Amino acid sequence: PTEVAASAEAKSEAAKKAKIGLYFATWWALNVVFNIYNKKVLNAYPYPWLTSTLSLACGSLMMLISWATGIAETPKTDIEFWKTLFPVAVAHTIGHVAATVSMSKVAVSFTHIIKSGEPAFSVLVSRFLLGETFPVPVYLSLIPIIGGCALAAVTELNFNMIGFMGAMISNLAFVFRNIFSKRGMKGKSVSGMNYYACLSMLSLLILTPFAIAVEGPQMWAAGWQTAMSQIGPQFIWWVVAQSVFYHLYNQVSYMSLDQISPLTFSIGNTMKRISVIVSSIIIFRTPVQPVNALGAAIAILGTFLYSQVIYPTLYELSLIVITNEWLL
Ligand code: 3PG
Repeated sequence: PTEVAASAEAKSEAAKKAKIGLYFATWWALNVVFNIYNKKVLNAYPYPWLTSTLSLACGSLMMLISWATGIAETPKTDIEFWKTLFPVAVAHTIGHVAATVSMSKVAVSFTHIIKSGEPAFSVLVSRFLLGETFPVPVYLSLIPIIGGCALAAVTELNFNMIGFMGAMISNLAFVFRNIFSKRGMKGKSVSGMNYYACLSMLSLLILTPFAIAVEGPQMWAAGWQTAMSQIGPQFIWWVVAQSVFYHLYNQVSYMSLDQISPLTFSIGNTMKRISVIVSSIIIFRTPVQPVNALGAAIAILGTFLYSQVIYPTLYELSLIVITNEWLL
């Protein structure tokens, strides 16, 4: 019977891994499509505050329809839930708009190379703002991440400060978003999918007045006419595609965050960027110098090393905690 139990456990473990693998693959594929349409739209229509708002509005609408028609179960929320969601939504809004502003100024690949430094931000925030300490190898593994990103940045042919800072701000904001989200989702009856739906709605409310203040309807209308005359009616479909795919990839990523730690999430997210970087360089024919590509490769390899270091470290730490509990 113990053998039967062990094999059942192994099977459920394998099924869980397969499910997470499927979530990751879907998340990455949806994200590649989002990034391509988002950049096509931004090239013709450089209003990142509006396109960020439209992405959130589209997701909110899709979820309201899903709830109304019973495709998704309407979550039961109280005022406490929305209060805890507020800081997450602020971080999500800042991270989203900052990344989109960045992509409106530089190549998609450059934004994502800088954004591949997110695990380093995760450690730095945990260390300096939350007071958590990590063993030396964890800090050492940050050197290639930070060094690789820096090398890629200084050798970027189309470097732009707003593009660079946008990606950096996005990194910082998303680390907070992931930490707060995981805390907010813990022990709550709201599923990952519905949690992200509520997050979109609250972020939409936060972002709309800022988008109007920064860009505003007059600019949007004039730009829209230019884009329509240059691209034709298919421009509308590009806007729809970037908005729908934005929601879908985030929804799937939150469905996986439900199952994994914020750290695994950050690492999965960095691996995702490899597919975005490669596909966007091919599609947009982004010029890349060998030393620039080397920087990106070192940064991504650094993330891989970081994941190899941090997992055994977390495992050892949990053993120490368990042993200490036994000793006490
Ligand atoms: C956005 O617009 O929110 C960014 O493209 C998101 O970046 P992510 O790849 O970190 O989700």
